[in-house]
Amino acid sequence: MDLFTAVETRRSVKHYDVSEKMTSSEFNQLIQATMLSPTSYNIQHWRFLRVTDSRLRSRLKDAAWGQQQVEDASELIILCADINAWKDRPERYWADAPREARELLVPMLTDFYRDKPQLQRDEAIRSCGLAAQTMMLAAKALGYDTGALVGFDSDKVAELINLPEGYLIGMMIVVGKASKAANGRGGQLALGEVLFENQF
Ligand SMILES: Cc1cc2nc3c(=O)[nH]c(=O)nc-3n(C[C@H](O)[C@H](O)[C@H](O)COP(=O)(O)O)c2cc1C
Repeated sequence: MDLFTAVETRRSVKHYDVSEKMTSSEFNQLIQATMLSPTSYNIQHWRFLRVTDSRLRSRLKDAAWGQQQVEDASELIILCADINAWKDRPERYWADAPREARELLVPMLTDFYRDKPQLQRDEAIRSCGLAAQTMMLAAKALGYDTGALVGFDSDKVAELINLPEGYLIGMMIVVGKASKAANGRGGQLALGEVLFENQF
């Protein structure tokens, strides 16, 4: 599928055909594509939790105020991020780069994030956002629909998935085939309200 077709036809789908399942090779392709998303200093903060346990899916649906897509979609992926990834063996993020580049970048990134908890958290969220969009477009290209969700009790979900200390939950993504198309678009803002030139 052409990228612009994927961008234009991706919609947040809420109703899924429970009989439609992603194959494991499609799921693998989806995750591999998602992992090519950009991250600042290539830190790759994201940690993808794939929920395959149907009882857990049901409990997560309850924590998401009964949103049925959490239970019905073929895949439920909880996009989490390790806020402290910047200091967790950062040489890994440049393992394949020439040694001179690695020796320059690793101390640089460590200095950039040290003692800046807000920035560390912002960056983890940014990485989740970029990964989420790659995932949704890649799923569309594979013939699947998606939905992003933040409508859930974060503390409850953290408890249910045993979220490690220092991790955050970016969002949930459901992937599957629609049983009912998305409603019409809510309405896009006018270009003049969102696009500026040089200064606000
Ligand atoms: C981070 C994020 C969280 C969202 N959370 C929910 C949600 O919990 N439940 C829901 O029905 N839709 C949710 N949405 C879908 C938005 O309402 C939807 O993206 C928006 O209305 C635009 O529609 P479209 O995605 O079909 O273009 C979420 C979207 C994003 C990006």
